[in-house]
Amino acid sequence: MKIETIRIKNFKALRDIEMTNLPAYCVFVGRNGTGKTTLFRVFSFLKNCLAKNVRTALNIEGGRNGLKEVLSRGHDKEDLEIEIQFRLNIAGINRLVTYHLEIGDTPDQGTIVKREILRYKRGRHGSPFHFIDFTAGEGYAINNEDEFRKWDLDLMRESQKLDSPETLAIKGLGQFERFKAASAFRQLIENWHISDFHISSARGDKEEEAAEHLSPSGDNLPSMARHLYEKHRPVFESIKQRMQERVPGVTDITVTVTEDGRLLMRYRDGAFVDPFIDKNVSDGTIKMFAYLVLLADPKPHPILCVEEPENQLYPELMKVLAEEFQQYAERGGQVFVSSHSPDFLNAVPLESIYWLEKKQGETSIHRAADVPLLRRLTQEGDLPGYLWNQGFFNSKRLPLE
Ligand SMILES: Nc1ncnc2c1ncn2[C@@H]1O[C@H](COP(=O)(O)OP(=O)(O)OP(=O)(O)O)[C@@H](O)[C@H]1O
Ligand SMILES: [Mg+2]
Repeated sequence: MKIETIRIKNFKALRDIEMTNLPAYCVFVGRNGTGKTTLFRVFSFLKNCLAKNVRTALNIEGGRNGLKEVLSRGHDKEDLEIEIQFRLNIAGINRLVTYHLEIGDTPDQGTIVKREILRYKRGRHGSPFHFIDFTAGEGYAINNEDEFRKWDLDLMRESQKLDSPETLAIKGLGQFERFKAASAFRQLIENWHISDFHISSARGDKEEEAAEHLSPSGDNLPSMARHLYEKHRPVFESIKQRMQERVPGVTDITVTVTEDGRLLMRYRDGAFVDPFIDKNVSDGTIKMFAYLVLLADPKPHPILCVEEPENQLYPELMKVLAEEFQQYAERGGQVFVSSHSPDFLNAVPLESIYWLEKKQGETSIHRAADVPLLRRLTQEGDLPGYLWNQGFFNSKRLPLE
């Protein structure tokens, strides 16, 4: 499953943006305040809408004022719109599915989901068919989606009224197998990983818990390391080897269970006999280990968002790290990264690079590969990070195609 198109209207600085033909690996650069974090927050927002409800998700983004604070300034009478197009296999056929969401204020019901649609086409031609279509908490879903291939078959509409117009229809319907696209999209969102890694959360001895993925804050790093050690030994060994190559002195990494059943990570430095507990290991060591664990995940997340992976790490490590993010995308998870590091960007293909600009409070997003000059210069051997440093990623300077 892969996101092809993202359209956003009135989400903070993202007044009106559209990105089409998104590659599996996307790297976003741009000056402070141009909207990189905001773009990633849209993913968190959708996740929170689904896990909780729209009001709670708006409060997380906008505080007590909710929608009012989230809507783009000067457009607070309008609605917030998010549209995502993604490729999905439904009943054996690869479909381009569109999810459309409109959230706005109403005089009588307050902030509600004004419209929610999930649609895709029957064949290559014709207009898309709405499989889910809800307005203010009421609407229908098609419940014999499996039969969609049979042209002569009538599709069965099942009318539904949601518990509340603040709830997404895909939240309830997505629990049922028979609503194929809804349940696939629901699962997709639930499995998005939006990293909010804190070195301090990763440190220290931890309760042993079942872990299949690194948590967004990284607080289950010892459990995840142990999971890899026990169930995916070659993956763990490869991480250890890369740590030895990248962090001077690190010769071994172990996870031990303490007497009271807690997990403790230790890093051995070849210069000393006793290993160090992770409390006394450098920030960059923990961060590099956490990235290696995240990116070696045997079951890649459908979407992985990481902000500024360069923080705390030595510039020379950026090249390998950028390549590892790309490999993760190639293994089947779509990757969105933001960065301020020219070294990181130097190792990213031009097709993956987007830059953000802000004019009069509104963000615009540009694809580097759309600029003929950037294409030519990189083909001739110039590296994207250097071009970015020299100010080439600037819509005023460059004719866009
Ligand atoms: N409701 C809103 N309408 C318009 N702009 C807003 C709204 N809320 C916040 N902003 C602006 O959006 C901008 C985007 O910030 P964001 O954190 O996304 O930038 P960034 O690209 O991640 O920057 P950095 O590189 O510093 O992390 C901020 O400058 C903020 O002033
Ligand atoms: Mg930011």
